[in-house]
Amino acid sequence: MSTHGKRAVRQRLRAATTAAAAMALLAAPLCITTSASAAEAHVDNPFAGATQYVNPTYAAAVESAATRAGDATLAAKMRTVAKQPTAVWMDRISAITGNADGNGLKFHLDNAVAQKGAGPIVFNLVIYDLPGRDCFALASNGELPATDAGLARYKTEYIDAIAALLADPKYQDLRIVATIEPDSLPNLVTNISEPACQQSAPYYRAGVKYALDKLHAIPNVYNYIDIGHSGWLGWDSNAGPSATLFAEVAKSTTAGFASVDGFVSDVANTTPLVEPYLPDSSISVGGTPIRSSSFYEWNFDFDETDFTAHMHRLLVAAGFPSSIGMLIDTSRNGWGGPNRPTAASTSTNHNTYVNESKVDKRVHRGAWCNPLGAGIGELPQATPSGYTASHLDAFVWIKPPGESDGASSEIENDQGKRFDRMCDPTFVSPKLSNQLTGATPGAPLAGQWFEAQFKTLVANAYPVIPGGTTPTDTTAPSVPAGLTAGTTTTTSVPLSWTASTDNSGGSGVAGY
Ligand code: GLC
Repeated sequence: MSTHGKRAVRQRLRAATTAAAAMALLAAPLCITTSASAAEAHVDNPFAGATQYVNPTYAAAVESAATRAGDATLAAKMRTVAKQPTAVWMDRISAITGNADGNGLKFHLDNAVAQKGAGPIVFNLVIYDLPGRDCFALASNGELPATDAGLARYKTEYIDAIAALLADPKYQDLRIVATIEPDSLPNLVTNISEPACQQSAPYYRAGVKYALDKLHAIPNVYNYIDIGHSGWLGWDSNAGPSATLFAEVAKSTTAGFASVDGFVSDVANTTPLVEPYLPDSSISVGGTPIRSSSFYEWNFDFDETDFTAHMHRLLVAAGFPSSIGMLIDTSRNGWGGPNRPTAASTSTNHNTYVNESKVDKRVHRGAWCNPLGAGIGELPQATPSGYTASHLDAFVWIKPPGESDGASSEIENDQGKRFDRMCDPTFVSPKLSNQLTGATPGAPLAGQWFEAQFKTLVANAYPVIPGGTTPTDTTAPSVPAGLTAGTTTTTSVPLSWTASTDNSGGSGVAGY
């Protein structure tokens, strides 16, 4: 966050301290104890030195999948996944109090307080209910219409209700990191020709401004705005206008740029962190620039480290302080497994070279729905090293791996979600240069548990997910010489021995 922001926080703290001092005069000495539990000041990178909240509901779903995995190695990897922190999505008003799909926000906040050890803990929260949500697709259309009435409900029934809970002093020691409205502002940059996005545009701007204002007013909440991913906003013609739009929205808030702590890329997408065999997007092969390939379509940003570095530069140029930090959702951008290339192609055709070298196995970078073959990416991690220009605050898991992006056929529901053919593996999509979508078949509604996809994500993880100790030898243990065995089971044997008075075989160190 900015020095400007730090000043604002200090001012807020000072105001609070003055108020506390006044109270102390009125009601001394009882109030003095409250100063002992003063909240921590807003920090630059909330992830630094902190653990992150592990959602017990998600962990239980993963544990349950592990019992059905039918493969000891896969099950062990799933149990590692169950221990990872994932974000809690407020994807509709009823998610705040809890609904058929999960426990409410208070349940999670209370659990986060219980999980907190001596050090700080981050609670990842997703704000996702704008009026006219998901204007360029159908799978995650929301409950609120893009109307004044929809915006009014967004403010009072959604943001105000969330902010009231977060502001409870019980939660003042949690570092609450809010991912603000995935896909919304990016849609206004690239998809404004779509009537639904035109209709949504004023409500996206007003809604994001309102969310930033309300959440920034709580000193232990950190706002990260969604910036799509490299295959969406990477082109200069999109990245530049995006930075301008993010700056406009930030400037419209009460605290201005200080209401934004950073930006988050690749939320619920599968764009790789790094394309290891395409490290330089400006080279040519066979005399043709590889970025002109049909996969990259002249985009310089081949991966998320390129993109976050690019966006950080543009955002700072647009007025954000250089202290803003970037997050990357690495929950599903791993692309390991048997189809992962192990070296750069030797082809002299630029398209073949790109297709054989890239780890991203999608047919098109616009294929966003349950892409078949993707794997889990880097485990959540604070201040990852090695990408200085990207200014990374952390790798996070915003999309919980195993939750669907959208149904592969029409499924009735009361959440406003609709059938998007991008989720249908039999569909040839004009948005993908007339290629098949590559979506995993049999997908349930967006947000629902999708076990077949979860299995692939774990199996294709890159880096490979550690799986604890997997027993490879299943023969029953034998009895070492000189010892007497008790009742032997398949996994253990109790051993005993009889003490001897003969010490001649000893090392002699003890000497008696
Ligand atoms: C999708 C869904 C939403 C869900 C989220 C996380 O965007 O629309 O309901 O909470 O993914 O899985």
